Amino acid sequence: MTKRLAGKVAVITGGASGIGRECSLRFAEEGAKIVVADINLDRASSVCAEIKAAGNEAVPFAVDASIPEDVVAMADAAMNEFGQVDACVAAAGISHASYVSREPQEQAGADRHDRHDMMLIDKSLANWQRVLDVNLTGVMLTNQAIAKKMQESGGGAIVNIASIAGKTALMGASDYCVSKAGVWMLTKCGAIELARHGIRVNAVGPGYIKTSMSGAATSNDAWVEDRIKETPLRRLGEPSDIANACLYLCSDEASFVTGEIIFPDGGLIADSRA
Ligand SMILES: NC(=O)c1ccc[n+]([C@@H]2O[C@H](COP(=O)([O-])OP(=O)(O)OC[C@H]3O[C@@H](n4cnc5c(N)ncnc54)[C@H](O)[C@@H]3O)[C@@H](O)[C@H]2O)c1
Repeated sequence: MTKRLAGKVAVITGGASGIGRECSLRFAEEGAKIVVADINLDRASSVCAEIKAAGNEAVPFAVDASIPEDVVAMADAAMNEFGQVDACVAAAGISHASYVSREPQEQAGADRHDRHDMMLIDKSLANWQRVLDVNLTGVMLTNQAIAKKMQESGGGAIVNIASIAGKTALMGASDYCVSKAGVWMLTKCGAIELARHGIRVNAVGPGYIKTSMSGAATSNDAWVEDRIKETPLRRLGEPSDIANACLYLCSDEASFVTGEIIFPDGGLIADSRA
């Protein structure tokens, strides 16, 4: 059977962990050559080693998605390495200003939004700004730099990782929620502006997914139990649930889909109690 991304090149930001890692592995399985771009070069290199061990092609790239020069260098590196860019998943993100992505075994329980300085009334401007810089400006910069390369390659497909938090307010996470609502609107603006260049732009808004960010990859605490109870499908999402949605949107099967958002969330936001 023909692989769904055969002959394509994909740049995945946040590719070293969680959702971005799974997109990197899944897209490679489907025939794409991958640039695994992340602020953590060691973890990005490990993901590339996994991809290569499976007989596919990948290169790591160190990027802080909030720094314009880094992002332009990332897009240049993809062109230099593979000669084209056809797909991009902008998955780099942080849940709050001091969030650091960890290996599952390093996770000390949940990383919850319950600190008093996370509430709007006490939130520092610096913390607010960092979340917006990475989650929203970082996605904008990535879309911009990658779209320029896709123009040269004759088109492509971009998927921005938003969140249910772009639609539903979460306590103590005003910066995160606003950044994700912004990603959703950026996606729609990008879609109508880039359509003329043959570039599709869509978003995926995950519910609660088992990654370092949700703190649910390893822990089974009361917070996780509550999230499972509020999710109609009665489970947390796997990174593969999100990677499969991204794969669809980057594949030719979605050739008439642009400016859309898909919420793989187990029915969470369809439920009026959520
Ligand atoms: N896990 C969830 O429940 C969930 C739900 C909704 C949305 N999301 C979104 O999914 C995306 C991926 O998150 P995840 O859950 O896989 O978390 P994760 O921590 O496992 O992965 C995030 C990755 O982004 C990288 N990163 C962070 N800041 C960066 C920066 N400035 N530049 C480049 N890379 C950077 C990290 O090093 C890490 O590899 C994020 O945008 C997140 O907001 C996650």
